[in-house]
Amino acid sequence: MSNRLPVDRTVGPDGEPTWSPSPGGLVTALEPVMRSAGGAWVGWGGQPDLGLEPFEHDGIRIIPIDLSETDIERYYEGFSNDTLWPLYHDVIAPPSYHRVWWDSYVGVNRRFADAAIAAAAPDATVWVQDYQLQLVPRMLREARPDLTIGFFNHIPFPAYGIYSQLPWRTQIIEGLLGADVIGFQRVADAGNFTRAVRRLLPYSTKGAIVNVPDGDGARQVLAKAFPISIDTAGFEELAQRPEVQARAAQIRHDLGNPAKIMLGVDRLDYTKGIRHRLKAFGELLADGRADVGDVTLVQVASPSRERVETYRQLRDEVELTVGRINGDYGTISHQPISYLHHGFPREEMAALYLAADVMLVTALRDGMNLVAKEYVAARSGDLDGVLVLSEFAGAADELRTAVLINPHDIAGLKDAISGALDMPREERRRRMRAMRKRVRENDVEHWSQTFLDALRRVRRGDDLSALG
Ligand code: G6P
Repeated sequence: MSNRLPVDRTVGPDGEPTWSPSPGGLVTALEPVMRSAGGAWVGWGGQPDLGLEPFEHDGIRIIPIDLSETDIERYYEGFSNDTLWPLYHDVIAPPSYHRVWWDSYVGVNRRFADAAIAAAAPDATVWVQDYQLQLVPRMLREARPDLTIGFFNHIPFPAYGIYSQLPWRTQIIEGLLGADVIGFQRVADAGNFTRAVRRLLPYSTKGAIVNVPDGDGARQVLAKAFPISIDTAGFEELAQRPEVQARAAQIRHDLGNPAKIMLGVDRLDYTKGIRHRLKAFGELLADGRADVGDVTLVQVASPSRERVETYRQLRDEVELTVGRINGDYGTISHQPISYLHHGFPREEMAALYLAADVMLVTALRDGMNLVAKEYVAARSGDLDGVLVLSEFAGAADELRTAVLINPHDIAGLKDAISGALDMPREERRRRMRAMRKRVRENDVEHWSQTFLDALRRVRRGDDLSALG
């Protein structure tokens, strides 16, 4: 179960709707599992009032959940993306708390839960994904104690001092504790969660195990880090294709053959630190430490949550800054920043990664950041390129040989970018090789198998302490 279905509904030029796979890694990882298990996917089709019946897509049963315009405003744009999203990302933007949004969140979670309750076979396993559906595990358990229930949080879980702002903080924890296994991106997120449990509920915890009262006894809930990853082999293969490599050369040529290309790839989101990145680059140009003829920054900012006010403001600020920098430092033949406000297919992304000498991931807070891992996978053939990576992205726990930065420290960020642009080939190779090893070992298949294995142990009735 996830807020969005693994397929996107698009309307063709003939006006006919078609479904095509969503690009995310989650689909890649879970598709084979779902097909072999005869699984069903419960989610929203991405548009209001679609009124769709369940259907089959590529061997997977799809169970669409209808959201009205009001549900979208209150549950999706409101509570999910203007309350939980900023709160869980360390209040980079101020979260809004509205009781009608909460009511809608409860109602939509109920609708998702009811669909799964009706669809799941006896003793089935249900895996709930992400912050939009945190109440679903408990709703499932209450109606269907036979189910084995997993929950994975794709975004950070904040420290209690921040989490405690939430007026519905106890209900959310109780909702999550309906699961048998609760997965987080980082060890720190799992720790924040168990601390919140201890502060809000009289349940004992030991390591990663929470003992939740159940009838006369207690059941064990495992709350642990399972860092998500990408389809590493698939990305490596893509980047080796001659046409993708030719496209990378073409990109460099089209940019005016700069000595160095830097790349940023993000959803246009205030958590991504795009403004900090632009500020650092603008100052390097102003200081004369970077020259427009030598360095170009390609910034892909894919449109996201465009009706939420904070996102609108961010877009205005980013576009104003890009315009200023290009106006101040551009020449007829060279633009310092090539700004693209749209998404691209995987092939084009792989070509961009191959073309990029320096990849900039400067998130202020990020659950994992799969772009960082994709860059490493794409560069595992030539072992070249430098990854500048924020300490505040979950990926920094694994990619220790990236150039780690604090995006709030603009002077430090400038030095890191400058050092990345000048880094000798041998050092680039050494750092990339270590990261490649990590991304190969922990790919998305490993992630899903490790999580599902924990759920299998629950079903067998194993003592989970060994996993904690
Ligand atoms: C993050 C969240 C996902 C979400 C995605 C895109 O990665 O963890 O749950 O689907 O952003 O955001 P959107 O609001 O467009 O689904």
